[in-house]
Amino acid sequence: MTRLEDLPIRDDLRGLVPYGAPQVALPVALNVNENTHPVPDEVASDILDSIARALRDVNRYPDREFTALREGFADYLGNGLLPEQIWAANGSNEVLQHVLQAFGGPGRRAFGFTPTYSMYPLLTRATGAEWVAGERASDYTLSPQSAADQVAAADPDVVFLCAPNNPTGTPLPIDVITAVYEASRGIVIVDEAYIEFAPRDAVSAISLLGGRERLVVSRTMSKAFAFAGARVGYLAADPAIIDALRLVRLPYHLSALTQAAASAALRHADVMLGMVDEIVAQRDRISATVEALGFRAHPSWTNFVLFGDVDDPRATWQALYDRGVLIRDVGIPHHLRVTAGTAQETTAFLDALASLESGA
Ligand SMILES: Cc1ncc(COP(=O)(O)O)c(C=O)c1O
Repeated sequence: MTRLEDLPIRDDLRGLVPYGAPQVALPVALNVNENTHPVPDEVASDILDSIARALRDVNRYPDREFTALREGFADYLGNGLLPEQIWAANGSNEVLQHVLQAFGGPGRRAFGFTPTYSMYPLLTRATGAEWVAGERASDYTLSPQSAADQVAAADPDVVFLCAPNNPTGTPLPIDVITAVYEASRGIVIVDEAYIEFAPRDAVSAISLLGGRERLVVSRTMSKAFAFAGARVGYLAADPAIIDALRLVRLPYHLSALTQAAASAALRHADVMLGMVDEIVAQRDRISATVEALGFRAHPSWTNFVLFGDVDDPRATWQALYDRGVLIRDVGIPHHLRVTAGTAQETTAFLDALASLESGA
């Protein structure tokens, strides 16, 4: 049997571990921050019709510039954005990879405030760049001063700001973003994967784009849009950044079927996002209930809750697993993370957790 380390693999990939959240068929899967509500029936048929029409032309390569989809995202984001300021790819992971391929790479450095999204270091290293981890306060917040000082000291080519942050749920004040931008010379990516779950009056970094040509705001259809399986992420930035991304993408990277599905889903954005309030209600219910059970719930503007004061996260994770409930051990000592599911799934999780606490 050949082992990985026997292959002539790049030296800088030796010893790395791939992304590997467990994919197991448990009745209640709340471990990867998906939207556990299916695509509503009322829009599913229109999406299917669009895919069917695109299928008739799949003998041809798709529109390399995904023109209709970029127009759809520009409309959805508003703020006067133009289609030439939009980029999209197969999930925001690929969007972030494109940014790193263009602005990271060998001899360069990317920076993020940990704990944060676990793919940032993996994507960074896969492009041959160095990953530098900054720090947060003990409650996972960031102040403008501390964030700017750390970025100035690290002098990165690419900065990741996860707003709100995964896996902690922490909101990111807009003045932290502007302070980091001022303190840096590189690309500043604000990853707004969960922004639709923030309070309605929360300010998006999209509003900061004017006059900031190094700022990039990435989003995804995987969370609030309930479209994780379709793999669609996007970003908004200066048109010159989009030109840079064209240099590194594979030709025709977004399939005609993906483009058709995503454009159709965007036409029904209101319905697709219809479950957001319900998910936010379940998230807040989780926070209140785990607190009542004696855990510490960290404030969350996302569709998940990180809770602390867990004596033995591994044992609690396993006991929940044995009861058919899959959540996430993100490796933060004494913490676990759970996604807000449907009311029924959330109840199943909370009941299972309560039964462990009562020794039932
Ligand atoms: C903060 C953050 N960014 C990006 C992603 C990637 O999402 P996708 O590639 O499905 O768009 C995730 C997924 O969990 C995430 O948590």
